[in-house]
Amino acid sequence: MLERSLDYLRQKIGNFEPDTAIVLGSGLGLLSAAIENPIVIQYTDIPDFPHTTVVGHPGCFYIGQLGNHKVICLQGRFHLYEGIAPKVIAGVTDILYKLGVRQMIITNAAGSLDVNMPAGSLMLIKDHINFSGQNPLIGFQETPRFPDMSETYSREMRRKMCKVSEKTNIKLYEGVYIMVLGPNYETPSEVRLFRQFGADAVGMSTVPEAISAVYLGIKVLGISVISNLGAGLTDTVQTHEDVIITVAESIEKMGILIQKFLEEE
Ligand code: HPA
Repeated sequence: MLERSLDYLRQKIGNFEPDTAIVLGSGLGLLSAAIENPIVIQYTDIPDFPHTTVVGHPGCFYIGQLGNHKVICLQGRFHLYEGIAPKVIAGVTDILYKLGVRQMIITNAAGSLDVNMPAGSLMLIKDHINFSGQNPLIGFQETPRFPDMSETYSREMRRKMCKVSEKTNIKLYEGVYIMVLGPNYETPSEVRLFRQFGADAVGMSTVPEAISAVYLGIKVLGISVISNLGAGLTDTVQTHEDVIITVAESIEKMGILIQKFLEEE
């Protein structure tokens, strides 16, 4: 699967073996600037590799040293609502695994389902609900046939991130992320329903990456930047442009959290 992509990346990065992947969501690309002398590879230059189509997602890898880790940053991720097949996302995760990645930090922009977690908050994902109706492992997996998801978001990585949050005084909420397929935002009734499900934030990504990573044995940490309150929780109407602007104000803090996380042993 995506073998030509893997060969191309191997040839580009030589003997550099990334241990950590960072998936940067909607407008969250700034962190890649913290990598010194990165190798930058455009998705469009990689044979057979999928391309992103969303505004604010340039679509390239930034590869290099960050803190104590060798990282591969995905600046621009793949969404099911772009028409990208779930198994293609699993294929990208598989490439990362084959390059050496054993932990993955996934970021996203999400809508809050809780009026007490306002726009601009950062939420550590403690678990997710896959409400997308899709699964990246369909047509992909051999064994195990029914992978365990009882600790999708690594307890150890979460504990470490909570310590970083305390040390840096950057507030981190903790909550459950529910994934919808999109691309439309939710109706107020859906927002009420998801709240009753036990979710704290809603978004259109992350779950396919997380499921495929856990399946392969990659540990996962997820952080949502809350860009808005869910529909019906406030009177204002949300546009993609609003999302990008609000998110920009919180990216810096999230970048600090991730950098400090990677500096910890
Ligand atoms: N819903 C779904 N996805 C999102 C939202 C939202 O309110 N905000 C940012 N991504």
